[in-house]
Amino acid sequence: MLTWMDSLRGRSLMRLTSFTDEEMLNLIDLAAQLKARRKAGVRGDLLKRKNIALIFEKSSTRTRNSSIIAARDEGGGAEYLTRPDIHFGKKESVKDTARVLGRIYDGILFRGFAQKTCEELAEYSGVPVWNGLTDDYHPTQIFADFLTIKETFGDLKDCTVAYVGDGRNNVANSLMMGCAKAGIRYICCTPKELWPDEAILAEADEVAKRNGVDIRVFDDPVKGVKGANVLYTDVWVSMGEESKTAERIKMLRPYQINMDLMRATGNIDGKLMFLHCLPAFHDFNTEVTKDSGALEVTDEVFESKYSKVFDESENRMHTIKALFVSALCDRAAV
Ligand code: CP
Ligand code: NVA
Repeated sequence: MLTWMDSLRGRSLMRLTSFTDEEMLNLIDLAAQLKARRKAGVRGDLLKRKNIALIFEKSSTRTRNSSIIAARDEGGGAEYLTRPDIHFGKKESVKDTARVLGRIYDGILFRGFAQKTCEELAEYSGVPVWNGLTDDYHPTQIFADFLTIKETFGDLKDCTVAYVGDGRNNVANSLMMGCAKAGIRYICCTPKELWPDEAILAEADEVAKRNGVDIRVFDDPVKGVKGANVLYTDVWVSMGEESKTAERIKMLRPYQINMDLMRATGNIDGKLMFLHCLPAFHDFNTEVTKDSGALEVTDEVFESKYSKVFDESENRMHTIKALFVSALCDRAAV
């Protein structure tokens, strides 16, 4: 018997603060239940006759495929719509597109540039809208990260997450708030130029204090990661910032996660894992890294026993499914 909170029905997710702390943690529990159910070979009909529009302005491997299969696994459907496919924001305003798609679909997952676009879709569509990444936030990623931490360490308690890299990008912003909400200590190791936005940091700090943990920002990664149980990184150049590539590689080289940094946690023989939302520049085989070598993480760490990145990546599917089910499924009718 699956259980989840009725309060999540019909709800949109703009950022992690869209949900209470309890709702966020409950959603991760639902994802664990759905994962176990799928591993047992059950494909249900929790999303039967539910259709989801996937509006994507930016590329995606995990979020796109997780959304499609999450819906399909439970008897629903998802349609992938990129900007060139529809009139979105060109011949038709976001507001009009929202009102059109809201009458056809049961929910909309949006990936794109402006957070405002996501909020406008939610305001006018009349159906739940989920943020599948904007320039500012990546909330669905954090559900998968926390499910992975729970699976590996048993729970989220007494855990310190150190994020190393671009401290003010979408993943870092959401991870900081997620840790605050879950009562996880958060350390951000980032150069002064990429310090988290003051307002976003202050908001997360208030939530962290309420949950009895703190947030600390360091520009020295070796000092910063001491005591960390999770070393987390993301690309140094997010989608839409490609013109900054050379500058960022220069700035962030000292923030690469390698075995020396893993050792600097002091937990190399204890409770320690490596996470990355992916895609990752860890080898020499991509267009970007053929001249520069590994960027934010070395191949040695990426391929090590500490690395849980493919569990994390798989968990995108189970957690997105939990999001769709909790928002769209009428439990009484199941
Ligand atoms: N982590 C993540 O969001 O991956 P995609 O960009 O492939 O969706
Ligand atoms: N910060 C990255 C995350 C990719 C999943 C980006 O926005 O490109």
